[in-house]
Amino acid sequence: MKLTLKVWRQKNAESKGYFEKYQVEANVHMSFLEMLDVLNEELIEQKKDPIAFEHDCREGICGACSMVIDGKPHGPQTGTTTCQLHMRFYNEGDEIVIEPFRARAFPVIKDLVVERASFERIIQSGGYISVNTGQAPDGNALPVEASKYEEAFDAASCIGCGACVAACPNGSAMLFTSAKINHLEKLPQGKIEHSERVLNMVAQMDKEGFGNCSNVGACEVECPKEISTENIANLNKFYLESVFIKQE
Ligand code: SF4
Ligand code: FES
Repeated sequence: MKLTLKVWRQKNAESKGYFEKYQVEANVHMSFLEMLDVLNEELIEQKKDPIAFEHDCREGICGACSMVIDGKPHGPQTGTTTCQLHMRFYNEGDEIVIEPFRARAFPVIKDLVVERASFERIIQSGGYISVNTGQAPDGNALPVEASKYEEAFDAASCIGCGACVAACPNGSAMLFTSAKINHLEKLPQGKIEHSERVLNMVAQMDKEGFGNCSNVGACEVECPKEISTENIANLNKFYLESVFIKQE
């Protein structure tokens, strides 16, 4: 199939970006990233600068393949990362607009690649368990209620891609931060440092320049892992509790 791509090109963080049009021939069995690979091979053959885009696992688990396709972070398929999007969803002659994630806390490095170290710093501020939990316990030694481990697992499926931030009109990182906090809060090992974690991660999130959550809900809609905004509601509750615990 012959496609027209309108791709955001930007040399570096300081330069002004612009859209450039390309024609590419893809086949229905390709993934979206393979289609971009084909275009890049052609650009390299023509001694032109290939389009910079991030990718790693290409299996929907690492969160690297972050781009906005036709106005939607990770493209038009719900619950799907860009690397899992396939060209069979497109038709001959389609025009596809591809841009980087746009958010103050995610500056563009080049073309479709943005700097997401702000997410790393939120994790570094508390998204871990530092207490000594000993050797890996036997499977049934530490009972966890079924509903709790399911909630923990759902929250843990966040791949840190940043689509929630790109989808949010306020550029809020609440879905990401709340998923990480809820994941740990549901498990006995994570409860010990919970209040400190909540205060530190929220403080870091604010410091990084992410906006406030105003309950738009676009984050949940565009999240490729369908992380629920219930995590945000829980985080708001945890935050109030943690502030009071600190004051006691
Ligand atoms: S909550 Fe969803 S959209 Fe946000 S970083 Fe995690 S996986 Fe990506
Ligand atoms: S490349 Fe890893 S999730 Fe897409």
